[in-house]
Amino acid sequence: MEISTLVNPRQVILLTARAKGRDNVMALAWHTPVSYDPPMYAVAIYRGWFTCGLVRASKVFVVNFMPKSSAPAVLICGRKSGKKMDKFAASGLDKEEAEKVKAPRIKQALGYLECRTVRSVNVGDHVVFIAKVLKARLKSKGKRLFHLGGDRFTTTTR
Ligand SMILES: Cc1cc2nc3c(=O)[nH]c(=O)nc-3n(C[C@H](O)[C@H](O)[C@H](O)COP(=O)(O)O)c2cc1C
Repeated sequence: MEISTLVNPRQVILLTARAKGRDNVMALAWHTPVSYDPPMYAVAIYRGWFTCGLVRASKVFVVNFMPKSSAPAVLICGRKSGKKMDKFAASGLDKEEAEKVKAPRIKQALGYLECRTVRSVNVGDHVVFIAKVLKARLKSKGKRLFHLGGDRFTTTTR
């Protein structure tokens, strides 16, 4: 059985990263807090994705929590590779500069975590990046985006 059938719905975030003169954004549903003190967060990125190489190189990334209304933009970021295209332009998402790490952030996000990787673990076909949260901010309490499977999403009640 496909694991996703059991573990979904999961909140989908957009992970933004910068390295080698490139800014990129990808959709990511496999993420979790792993420590309160110090505040730590983990994300799992398939080793073949463009973003994986960027995070390996820069050791920093931003987790952007997105509103339900951003589903079409999130699908673009989750279906196309940024290797040869600018997904910010393609999805209509606006970039802003993160404060604590050298990476882009997404203006339309409801909140974000700015993270610096302290360890990476090769786990099967994905790399788990364990990172310290250098800045966490909730900008507004909109309805969040949760992935059901395929192109389908659901949301929170408030
Ligand atoms: C809803 C959704 C959730 C996703 N979750 C993950 C994830 O947790 N980890 C991952 O490696 N890829 C995930 N993906 C796939 C990547 O976002 C996708 O392959 C993307 O095109 C990679 O972009 P890049 O090549 O620019 O890095 C997800 C895609 C979607 C649509």
